[in-house]
Amino acid sequence: MSLERTLVILKPSAVQRGLIGEITTRFERKGLHLIGMKMMQLTDEILNEHYAHLSERPFFQRVKNSMMASPVVVCCYEGVDAIQIVRSMTGATNGRVAIPGTIRGDYSVSSQENIIHTSDSPKAALEEIARFFKPEELFEYKSCAQSFLY
Ligand code: PPS
Repeated sequence: MSLERTLVILKPSAVQRGLIGEITTRFERKGLHLIGMKMMQLTDEILNEHYAHLSERPFFQRVKNSMMASPVVVCCYEGVDAIQIVRSMTGATNGRVAIPGTIRGDYSVSSQENIIHTSDSPKAALEEIARFFKPEELFEYKSCAQSFLY
């Protein structure tokens, strides 16, 4: 069993539609352990780094503008196989394709306004957590639910 950490960004589409509680409740109910959470206004600078792999794509500026439309909520979750669990709960990029029951499948009809960003690999998770959180913003604490999880 490998304990992993993963980054989740509740995008402006989630914040502006009032879906923060709906989405964080899903992760809590699943048994993921929230170790960091904050509201942030993203900037062009941090998004150039975060979406560097998309810099040649025609939607690069659009996706950055969409991510700056309002504050976002960034979360760090911990759990066994947390990266894959969060990815499967997130669903496909395009909300129209994402399977109902996934977050994007239930709340999105778009590739851009697709509610949530989630780390897609252990390497991305490490880099993204370091990009959005200072070490002192992540908390190790015992949750009473942990005794019932594994
Ligand atoms: S892709 O097309 O394979 O690069 O798609 P993906 O890696 O899944 O998507 C990366 C992020 O780009 C956003 N995206 C788009 N934005 C605007 N328009 C279009 N057509 C579009 N396609 C993908 C998508 O929301 C992904 O954001 P993150 O934050 O990574 O979820």
